[in-house]
Amino acid sequence: MEVPIKIKNICCIGAGYVGGPTMAVIANQCPDIKVTIVDLNAQRIADWNDADLTRLPVFEPGLAEIIAATRNRNLFFSTDIEQAIAEADAIFISVNTPTKTYGSGKGMAADLKFIELCARQIAKVAKTDKIVVEKSTLPVRTAEALKDILEHTGNGCKFTILSNPEFLAEGTAVQDLLFPDRVLIGGEESLAGKNAIQALVDVYSKWVPEAKILTTNIWSSELSKLSANAFLAQRVSSINALSELCEETGADVQEVAKAIGMDSRIGSKFLKASVGFGGSCFKKDILNLVYIAKSLGLNEVADYWEQVIIFNNYQMKRFSEKIIKTLYNTVSGKKIAFLGWAFKKDTNDTRESAAIYVADYLLSEQATITVYDPKVSEKQIQYDLNYLESRPAVANIRGVSLGLDPYEACKEAHAIAVLTEWDEFVDYDWQRIYDNMMKPAFVFDGRGILDVKALSEIGFVCSVLGKSTMV
Ligand code: UDX
Ligand code: ADP
Repeated sequence: MEVPIKIKNICCIGAGYVGGPTMAVIANQCPDIKVTIVDLNAQRIADWNDADLTRLPVFEPGLAEIIAATRNRNLFFSTDIEQAIAEADAIFISVNTPTKTYGSGKGMAADLKFIELCARQIAKVAKTDKIVVEKSTLPVRTAEALKDILEHTGNGCKFTILSNPEFLAEGTAVQDLLFPDRVLIGGEESLAGKNAIQALVDVYSKWVPEAKILTTNIWSSELSKLSANAFLAQRVSSINALSELCEETGADVQEVAKAIGMDSRIGSKFLKASVGFGGSCFKKDILNLVYIAKSLGLNEVADYWEQVIIFNNYQMKRFSEKIIKTLYNTVSGKKIAFLGWAFKKDTNDTRESAAIYVADYLLSEQATITVYDPKVSEKQIQYDLNYLESRPAVANIRGVSLGLDPYEACKEAHAIAVLTEWDEFVDYDWQRIYDNMMKPAFVFDGRGILDVKALSEIGFVCSVLGKSTMV
């Protein structure tokens, strides 16, 4: 079996939020490996190659510096997918796997058409044996399908499949990649499988302590990724469920989170109450888990995990309804200023952001919305709202616009809603914001980040998620 003992040339298919940062860090930590990231989307590749590093398609703290150090040294961005595949000894598949929007499994199962396209392209082009690494989160047993396609359509080369799920969180991607809690590599138990696992372990062990590199069988690796995201999302839904109880009882969700988080069996992370979790992974991965369980007839398992999403949808609706109720039961014609549109701070990613759902809800109540987010464009906001397909598609949905600075966004607003926890929001000149707002000046803090006492002293009427009274 001619599995390369040493990986010298990597091709990554998919230059997105996972592929870009992951490969940049590998190139940075392993200067002797040539890494080429390819994508069908020529504009995305052009943006990654842009001389102006503020225009990279993915914003992540610390990423621009790593790109500057590695780009065109041993890190390359290209649209020539075939050449990159042909040259590589390891091919990482890092394309998107959206939830199906049609046919069987619609709204639940992962759509694997992009993965299948990659497999067919690899099979067509490969002239030498390859290690094929699943980097995208995939349903359990996708590796089997991949192997089937590769072996039946290839031209005699040997393909060894590994599952190497990525656990980075957006906004902290570079730190997570440099200092991961663990690296997980799943592979077949054959000699070829073991050789391939070792080759990938050798890459990561350049900077990750060996004790943190975990090797498993391929199915455990695939299921671990879905399970990790399901557990994390479940914690957020659990604390969010308590946030409503706090509002009704006089408890404070931040105090409760601190008290329970100090129990070392529970731990303090992922206990921040919020308008609802977003991002490209949580909902999609849980839906996937639910779909797998249902298709195996495990209905109680499916219902258990589905509740995490049902509650998240409820939380976003509850926040929207609270705004309406507080504004005397109507937001029609009223201006609501959104601080934040991204699904969390320190990223320009807006996929599944709670802000989109809250905006949609308020727009259908005829509110006017102005958004200020330090990293998101108006084009993206319009795209996100159109993506919901809850109103006829138009280039610009009326009633929503981008404020070029926060003060302009909040001018003459009836209310401000904090949707993302960007640090800078805390440091604004809130007196200046208050002076230019309609009165009473309402603030709805969906992230619990503002200094409510100081704001109340200025004159704001504040409502904080998980705290009982309007202050
Ligand atoms: C997640 C996983 O954390 C990561 O390991 C996996 O690789 C991809 O999915 P990501 O979606 O990038 O990462 O961000 P994460 O920090 O997990 O936040 C997800 C959502 O949950 C965000 O909307 C965030 O605001 C929300 N959240 C998180 C809370 O509302 N409260 C919390 O305490 C933590
Ligand atoms: P993620 O968050 O998982 O990285 P993204 O949507 O940010 O997801 O990135 C996935 C990238 O994969 C996109 O840029 C998309 O154009 C690219 N892609 C999808 N299918 C293919 C394919 N068959 N060949 C090359 N690139 C692909």
